[in-house]
Amino acid sequence: MTTMPAGSVALGIDIGGTGIKGALVDVPAGTLRGKRHYIPTPQPPTPEAIAEAVREMRDHFDVPAGTPVGVAFPAIVRHGIVRNATNIDPSWIGMNAETLFTEALGAPATVLNDADAAGLAEMALGAGRQAEGVTLVVTLGTGIGSALFLDGRLLPNTEFGHLSINGIDCCPWASGAARVKEGLSWAQWISRLQDYLGFAEFLMWPDLIIIGGGISQDAEQFLPLLQLDARVVQAQMQNDAGIIGAACEASALRGV
Ligand code: BGC
Repeated sequence: MTTMPAGSVALGIDIGGTGIKGALVDVPAGTLRGKRHYIPTPQPPTPEAIAEAVREMRDHFDVPAGTPVGVAFPAIVRHGIVRNATNIDPSWIGMNAETLFTEALGAPATVLNDADAAGLAEMALGAGRQAEGVTLVVTLGTGIGSALFLDGRLLPNTEFGHLSINGIDCCPWASGAARVKEGLSWAQWISRLQDYLGFAEFLMWPDLIIIGGGISQDAEQFLPLLQLDARVVQAQMQNDAGIIGAACEASALRGV
């Protein structure tokens, strides 16, 4: 099983296409300590502008030196380096985000993919607790993020949100944002989601699918209508999962 370390407080920051959310996290409990702070994502979301926003977030919480900082980032992040850029500025590609944020903060930052961060939190403390076998966590927000687990262990940086059906990238097509942006009815959007999840299921055969992201708050609108072989459940931490997962991961890696 994924386990979160016994530690104290870490700062978690979740960078999204429209907003940056941060909060102090009680790591052993996996809960927010106090209120979240929100900063609109700077436009264009360049490395310099995002680094400045991350610094602003740290200053807002006035964190003591040595507090681990975890950043959930909306792209592939391998060994600290950003590898793609769907919802962020293309100038991020090839950049070491860990070095950038560490320099901006004057303290070590841990950076991981946002869906992986959310998935880690759900597996350790939320809807995936005790889950055995294959679990697919899907975050439906501005885009679609994925996190894949076997017996609670993460295979990092999967990009199953970008599965393509009939030449269409599912990430903008079936995301939570697509429903609003394209003015789709629930029925129209659910039909896209069904196609997307049906294809994902055919490729991975997960035992459990956890649906997260902003739209998971409305899970009763669509979960009962999905026809899938896997058990499908709503994420429990919803919009806090990325913050909590990033903070806990930073705390674990720093051994705090
Ligand atoms: C990115 C993923 C990210 C997802 C959710 C996608 O466009 O490629 O890395 O997890 O959006 O933010």
